Amino acid sequence: MQNAVLIAENLYWLGGSDRKLSFFEGLYPVPRGISYNAYLLMDEKTVLFDTVDSAVGDAFLNNLEAALGGRSLDYLIVQHMEPDHSATFLRTVEKYPDVTVIVNKKSAQMLAQYYGFCGERIRTVAENEELCTGKHTLKFLFAPMVHWPEVMFTYDGISGTLFSADAFGTFGALEGSLFSEDYPFEQAYLPEARRYYTNIVGKYGVQVQAALKKTEGLSIERICPLHGPVLRKDAAKMVEKYRLWSGYQPEEKGAAVFYASIYGHTQSAAELLASALAQKGISVCVYDVSVTDCSELLAQAFRVSHLAFASVTYNGGLFPKMETLINDLKAHGLRGRTYALIENGSWAPAAGKIMAETLSTMKEFTQVGETATLLSAGKQEQEQAILALAEAIANDIKK
Ligand code: FEO
Repeated sequence: MQNAVLIAENLYWLGGSDRKLSFFEGLYPVPRGISYNAYLLMDEKTVLFDTVDSAVGDAFLNNLEAALGGRSLDYLIVQHMEPDHSATFLRTVEKYPDVTVIVNKKSAQMLAQYYGFCGERIRTVAENEELCTGKHTLKFLFAPMVHWPEVMFTYDGISGTLFSADAFGTFGALEGSLFSEDYPFEQAYLPEARRYYTNIVGKYGVQVQAALKKTEGLSIERICPLHGPVLRKDAAKMVEKYRLWSGYQPEEKGAAVFYASIYGHTQSAAELLASALAQKGISVCVYDVSVTDCSELLAQAFRVSHLAFASVTYNGGLFPKMETLINDLKAHGLRGRTYALIENGSWAPAAGKIMAETLSTMKEFTQVGETATLLSAGKQEQEQAILALAEAIANDIKK
């Protein structure tokens, strides 16, 4: 059985979805699975863009054979060496022994490291080098650290197609359609695209901006990423999101409240803060860090301008899940956020100080309001402190 799909003139999608995978990269939950895409351009020469993860290797090879329709494979362009796109490389070059493998220097090195593949079948290309395949001319744009050092995009000016490697991809298996406009953008596509971006390449904002700059001025009809649907009508919208995310600019002036609570008292404080903010007309969302996966918390922290952290003190330190979140924000280089703190401790509250120690070292992070301290359970005095904190956050958002 084959399922190669024609997505534009002479351009096929080949690939498949894995709905059994629990954690992408062993780290990120993918409750809706993930897709691995490869593409085949049928010009005077036949050109394959990447291979796929071993989970969908058989389906991919069947699709490739069907789409080729008896023709040989002339070129395999390796845009990204991470094994979710290269695990089927050896099977592909063994099946098509005359194929020329197009790589940059870094990919060539990784092909040798991963698969022991080297030799005359490799052709190394330089930045901005072009490959004429007949009617089409493909231009290679290097995009280092989006999300590995060897990554390159390929631009086909004839069809206006940007083959973007990991960039503009998303978590989630394909639900039949190969085009993002067939998915509810705000409800389904965007949240998972944001979680994918922020966690996978969120740290490399500078490098993403450099890659975006190389695509400025290109006429783009469609973006073909290695994960998730092809972007056509949504392409400009996603480029704009990437511009924001890579610049660490919030999408929305609003607040996210993250709390760590064991017996509910810190949660009550967080809920009071969120309720007071909402009553002041502030867009706010609330997350229990023990329940929501850190990858989603990170995505939300990228999305909004103001972050409130409410945490119990634990073993004289910070509650582990809150510690993980704050360290993850720092590790991903998030910057330019305003934060507020609530701490709790029954005999030696220290959470506020510990959170501030890390947050204050983050670029352009500014605390708003006074840290509110609960001693076991909130009383009227703490309610007033939290309402004052809500006032300070709301005023800062509205200014
Ligand atoms: Fe989808 Fe960086 O691999």
